[in-house]
Amino acid sequence: MNNKSIGVFDSGLGGLTAVKQIMKELPNENIIYFGDTGRVPYGTRSRDTILKYTRGDIRFLKTFDVKIIVIACGTASSAALPAIKDEFDIPIIGVIDAAVYAAVRATRNNKIGIIGTQGTIKSGEYEKQIKAYNSEMHTFAKACPLFVPIVENGHSDTQVARLLVEEYLEDIRNQGVDTLILGCTHYPLLERVIREYMGDEVTLINSGAEVAKYLKKKLGNEDMLNDGTVCGERYRYYVSDDIAGFEELGGIFLEREINGQVNKIDIEKY
Ligand code: DGL
Repeated sequence: MNNKSIGVFDSGLGGLTAVKQIMKELPNENIIYFGDTGRVPYGTRSRDTILKYTRGDIRFLKTFDVKIIVIACGTASSAALPAIKDEFDIPIIGVIDAAVYAAVRATRNNKIGIIGTQGTIKSGEYEKQIKAYNSEMHTFAKACPLFVPIVENGHSDTQVARLLVEEYLEDIRNQGVDTLILGCTHYPLLERVIREYMGDEVTLINSGAEVAKYLKKKLGNEDMLNDGTVCGERYRYYVSDDIAGFEELGGIFLEREINGQVNKIDIEKY
């Protein structure tokens, strides 16, 4: 048993796709979420910058003495986690392994599409791990840089989103993939329009939700589950920029009131 909180971070709203699932899978757990809204997007930054941001985000969450950190960000998980995971004396998990595991189990025709930020796609981590499972798998990857601003600005269910989905996903759809990894945690907020375009026969893998399932297994196996003890407040949220926008969109997405629970911090200090 371990009653400390779970630390989760992303560049903005995207990591809430993991938080929502953690709340469902692990209702006894306390969660501290950090959305680096002042520095979003991460996906278009250089690897050095992503490394710097990731280290700072981890240092911030460590100030709460959390028991584990979930990098609910495809970009930081692929471009930074492999390089930095041994720098910290705390377990840190990212979204890639969990999403790959779900995708290789879901595909029937061995054709898997991967969409993510430029940083994620450039890292090649998803393809590398898929091929490590099965070298016969065919992968089709595409960076979708405009999806994150669409989500962060609350335009997920608009005509603009539909046009972008068509623009970005046409090639992948034409390849006949039967499984598509939403390799950026922001993308499940576009799930409805992506599903409309790809069709119901394509399995969409939500990387945020998959890491939550993996987390549940890990905490269970390692006797790290919370027995129901609440530390302070069950859920706390921090951002590095405007609180109001995060409260509004985050609350809608999580389907719970988060007004008054979000605090702003200066992430540059960490
Ligand atoms: N949600 C993040 C990801 O999964 C970051 C997106 C961004 O900031 O570009 O990649």
